[in-house]
Amino acid sequence: MEELDPDLESWLNEKRKAIAGISEFLRGDAIVEFGCGSGFVIENLKEIFPDARIIGIDLSEERLGKVNELNLDGVTTKLDDFAEPLRFTFEADSAIFSMCLHEIFSYHGFAGLKIALANANDALVDGGRLAILEFMKPLPQTVTLKFKDNNALDWFLKFARDFKPRTIEFTRKGDEIRLDIAEATEFVSKFFRGYDCYEGDDEHWLEEMAETHFAFTRDEITHLVEASGFRILDIQELTREPRKWESMLDSVDFEFKDVNKKILLVAEK
Ligand SMILES: C[S@@+](CC[C@H](N)C(=O)[O-])C[C@H]1O[C@@H](n2cnc3c(N)ncnc32)[C@H](O)[C@@H]1O
Repeated sequence: MEELDPDLESWLNEKRKAIAGISEFLRGDAIVEFGCGSGFVIENLKEIFPDARIIGIDLSEERLGKVNELNLDGVTTKLDDFAEPLRFTFEADSAIFSMCLHEIFSYHGFAGLKIALANANDALVDGGRLAILEFMKPLPQTVTLKFKDNNALDWFLKFARDFKPRTIEFTRKGDEIRLDIAEATEFVSKFFRGYDCYEGDDEHWLEEMAETHFAFTRDEITHLVEASGFRILDIQELTREPRKWESMLDSVDFEFKDVNKKILLVAEK
């Protein structure tokens, strides 16, 4: 069997644990996963709730094809865009958004998030459960990136110019850049494979520049969920091992390695 990158492996294990954690709050008869991708969450849920009927919604036909290839009992897929009112109706007792709301925010802002949550609310029966697993935007704080390599600094300047979701405000003094921690985190997280990982790959670069991972703070998502008709049952913050970002330290010093946090939120309709 092909060996997994240890960082990917630790992330998948973390995600399995998160899914097991939220499953305690979920009702497992009819579950909908918004933005199911290739089915990692569905596969794990199916192990926990073997008799569940699960619908996976995504706008990627290719990824839904992979879910269908898994041939899991009771699992169906729907091609749809949940940043718009859905084109079909169904009833579920649990709804999940795992690592997809930052994409909705990137392309549709808070208005898109509201529609996504309204879709979940419409689909859920009264008392139904909502679970969200997402990156978490850190609270405002000015930090310093100290560049040890001019090429890496050039990539930062390119990032600041091309990043679409927000204007990257920063001040520069020599090889030091001062900026908000959310933008600094965004930069470091996009370059953890090394500052030159996008060299010659414009398509990948533009794709990454269109998306923010650290889209909303804990308070912002909590308020949005409550305003969408849900009562919060549980919130946890998960901290990733800092190892992933340490590969960046050859080219840039930064002191905020422990902010790579995710939020796990469970609510009831
Ligand atoms: C990062 S993947 C997460 C996949 C899966 N939920 C998981 O945690 O492994 C995000 C998925 O959301 C889907 N997605 C993003 N925006 C969407 C939208 N507006 N409607 C439907 N699917 C969407 C993408 O196609 C992608 O498959």
